[in-house]
Amino acid sequence: MEESNLDILAKTVKDIKGIDKNSASLRYQTTTQLVRGYSGIDKATGAVNTPVYQSALFAHPAFDESTGFSYSRVGNPTRLELENTIAMLEHGLKAWAFASGMAAISILLKLFSQGDHILVSNDLYGGTYRLFTTIYGKFGLEFSYVDTSHTEEIEAAIRPNTKAIFLETPSNPMMNVTDLQAVSAISKKHNVWMIVDNTFLSPYFQKPIDFGADIVIHSGTKYIGGHNDILSGFIVLADSELIEQIYTLSISEGGMLSPFDSWLTLRSLKTLAIRLERQQENAFKIVKFLKAHPVVDQVHYVGDPDHPGYELSKRQTTGFGGMISFSLKRAADVVPTLNHLKLVLFAESLGGTETLLTFPLVQTHAAIPEEMREKAGVNDRLLRLSVGIEDAEDVISDLDQALRGGRDDGR
Ligand SMILES: Cc1ncc(COP(=O)(O)O)c(C=O)c1O
Repeated sequence: MEESNLDILAKTVKDIKGIDKNSASLRYQTTTQLVRGYSGIDKATGAVNTPVYQSALFAHPAFDESTGFSYSRVGNPTRLELENTIAMLEHGLKAWAFASGMAAISILLKLFSQGDHILVSNDLYGGTYRLFTTIYGKFGLEFSYVDTSHTEEIEAAIRPNTKAIFLETPSNPMMNVTDLQAVSAISKKHNVWMIVDNTFLSPYFQKPIDFGADIVIHSGTKYIGGHNDILSGFIVLADSELIEQIYTLSISEGGMLSPFDSWLTLRSLKTLAIRLERQQENAFKIVKFLKAHPVVDQVHYVGDPDHPGYELSKRQTTGFGGMISFSLKRAADVVPTLNHLKLVLFAESLGGTETLLTFPLVQTHAAIPEEMREKAGVNDRLLRLSVGIEDAEDVISDLDQALRGGRDDGR
C-alpha cells in the first residue's frame, strides 16, 4: 500500500477520533492511571505491560480490512498506548508522541501561516525561543514576548493577526506562575488558541486543559521520561478541532517516537507520582537550606509561601514540583560552585532522578538575547536546580561544599 495516500491511511487508524471518553480507565485517579495506563493490560495477550511492537509495518488481513495499523509512522500499538495514556492524564482527547519536545513544538507551529502572530511567555526554554525566532520567523510567523504572569500584558499585546498564546507555567527558569483561567478567558474573548508547555509540572501536578487550554505540549524528556535516558515530546489536544490537521502534519513529517522509547516512557510513567512526590519533598528541604545560605541571594520556588505565585499555584495545581532557581550574591561564585560539585551533576536538563545544576545563561538560555534575558532575570548569578530523588541530606551537603568553593563546613 502507498503510505502517502492519506485517505486510505486515515481509514486504517481507528483512534483518529481520540480516546474513548467513556473508557473505564478515565474514572481512576491520576496515580492509578499512571500505573495502569489507558488500556490496563495488553488485550491480545494479557501482558501486564504493553509490548514493544517493533515493526515498521502491519499486514492487512484482506483487501479493505485492517488491524487498525498499517505503517508505524502513522500508528504503532506501543506508541498508541502511550499517546492514549498521555491524553487521558492531561484530560485531553488526543495526543501524539514525538522524538523530542522540539519536534512536537515544531509540528505545532505548522498549524500557522505566514503573517500569523503568536504571543509567547518572555521567560521560556531557550530552544523554543530559537525555534520561533530563527526558524519560523524566517517563514513569516510573528512572535512577541510578554510576561504572561501579568495577564494585563497579554491583553494589551493582542493584535488583529494574533492566532495563539504560548506559555510556560511555572516559567523556565524564573518560576513565574501564569493564571491559566485568566489566560483562557482572554484567548476565548479574542478567539485565539491557548497553548501551554506543561513540562515543568507534568500532568501529575497540573492539567492545563481543566483551566481552558486548547493544546498542551511537553518535553517528555523531563519528568514524564524521568530518568535522563529518553528524549520525547507530546502534543495533546483538548478537543477534536485540530485532530485532522495535527494528524496530517505528524504523519507527513515523520518525527514520531520509536516503539522502544514509547515502551520505556510507559514504564517511566508508572513511577511519575512517587518520583514527583519525592522530588517535591526534597525540594522543600533544599529551598530551606538555600534560603539560609550565606552566599545565596534570592530563591525562586513556587512552593515557597514567599513566592508571588504561591497562592495561584495552590489554586491551579496539585503540587509545586521539583524545580528551583536561585541567584548567588556574587557572580564570581558561580563557576567555582559548578566546578566543585561532587554528587549533583552540572548538566542541562531537568525532571530526572538525578539532581542537576544548570547555569541557564550559558546553557539552556544561551539562545535568548541579552536584553530579553536580563529583563526576565536570567543573569550571570542565576542557577537552576532540578531536584532528583536522592537522599536530600546528601544533595544539601554537596551543594553546601560547592557553594563554599569546595570548603566543607564540617557538616
Ligand atoms: C520547558 C521545555 N519545553 C521544551 C523543551 C524541549 O524539549 P526536548 O529537549 O525534549 O526537545 C525543553 C527542553 O529543555 C523545556 O525545558
